[in-house]
Amino acid sequence: MTRQFGRLLVTGGAGFIGSCFVRDILARRDGTHVTVLDKLTYAGNRANLAAVTEDPEQARRFRFVHGDIADAAVVAPLASGADAIVNFAAESHVDRSILDPEAFLRTGVIGVHVLLEACRREAEAAAAGRRAAAPRLLQVSTDEVYGSVDEGHATESAPLAPRSPYSAAKAAGELLVRSYHVTYGLDVVLTRGSNTYGPFHHPEKLIPLFITNALDDQELPLYGDGLQRRDWLYVADHAGAVEHVLRNGVPGEVYNLPGDRELPNREVVRLLLEHLGKPWSLVRQVEDRPGHDRRYAMDGSKLKALGWRNRTPFEVGLAATIDWFRANEPWWRAIRSGDWDAYYQRQYGSRLAGGVAAAPATAPAAASPESGPPGAA
Ligand code: NAD
Ligand code: DAU
Repeated sequence: MTRQFGRLLVTGGAGFIGSCFVRDILARRDGTHVTVLDKLTYAGNRANLAAVTEDPEQARRFRFVHGDIADAAVVAPLASGADAIVNFAAESHVDRSILDPEAFLRTGVIGVHVLLEACRREAEAAAAGRRAAAPRLLQVSTDEVYGSVDEGHATESAPLAPRSPYSAAKAAGELLVRSYHVTYGLDVVLTRGSNTYGPFHHPEKLIPLFITNALDDQELPLYGDGLQRRDWLYVADHAGAVEHVLRNGVPGEVYNLPGDRELPNREVVRLLLEHLGKPWSLVRQVEDRPGHDRRYAMDGSKLKALGWRNRTPFEVGLAATIDWFRANEPWWRAIRSGDWDAYYQRQYGSRLAGGVAAAPATAPAAASPESGPPGAA
């Protein structure tokens, strides 16, 4: 049975995927109230929620709280006013987790624990008749918890084998969430999303970094041989699938959210440059990411059986994303100022200095014969 939630607490709702989730729900004008709790790290951006705050009807159903999910005093009253909590909050960039892992653990493990403890208190309140039902918690996780999937497609029962501080923190958060379901009977569901792209994507990640660099005719730092494979999921499809699992998922269950297309990075870059009308000569082959996962690929049968279908083919989503970045230059220029240069220098300075011209990408759409993961169509 599809569940309705009148009051949502969305943690990390000022980030890339969380803000899409919030914008889409409030734009439906069905009376849902949303509170966003966000620490506004370098990745959080109130401008991502401007469509909500600038619309009087949506703004009346929206509240923004600037705070940390690891702060129990902030979280407790917000949990007590929520029918469901959707946790997008995390440090989300693998490269930054290799440079500075600690914040990943603080938010991904301690922060998740604080949310769980708040839900436990609310479950006790419900059992004592002080509220109608305990809040449902949806933990947004990632396909990276499976580690590199060199063959086939990981089902939800595959072993967790994370290989970066980012994915290890995400796996730890998941295990805590599941333990609270088993031990305390909390109503939880979990999603493992694929590589996501679209409007409002922070320009530190592959697709928006390469779009914005190419628009400025700057070099594009392609790691290693560029043959690592990712399965790309449009952001509105990721947010929609999260909402579908929130409303329909079975308590305690995990759902893979695969993308629309598995592609090697080189092919993504070729398509992107073709669309932008920029030359392949911008691409530099640079030193690889340490421990770089070669491939992510998930089986989507369980989500399909729950009734969800992605709506956005990769070519359509990529074109929309590029158009959005062209039309929203002030948004990404503001991010690529301030401490951006220091990060860029630390991550790419010596890589680009030691980089070489990348061999031309000639192959037409080198989509894998397996490019449609089971259950994704
Ligand atoms: P993002 O980095 O764009 O946004 C993260 C948001 O969380 C930011 O607004 C940030 O300010 C906030 N935040 C960070 N620490 C916080 C804390 N301690 N308390 C409160 N707020 C905090 O990330 P995203 O790409 O939107 O990813 C959202 C979630 O989805 C993450 O949990 C990520 O692991 C997961 N995910 C992302 C992808 C992807 O490709 N982007 C794919 C699968 C899963
Ligand atoms: O798979 C889901 C994950 O996707 C999410 O859990 C993460 O939050 C999200 O950041 C993303 O992780 P990736 O590491 O796959 O994404 P990223 O955009 O950083 O890199 C995509 C691929 O491109 C990867 O193989 C590394 C490569 N890459 C990335 C950057 C930033 C480059 O070749 N050069 C780059 O400069």
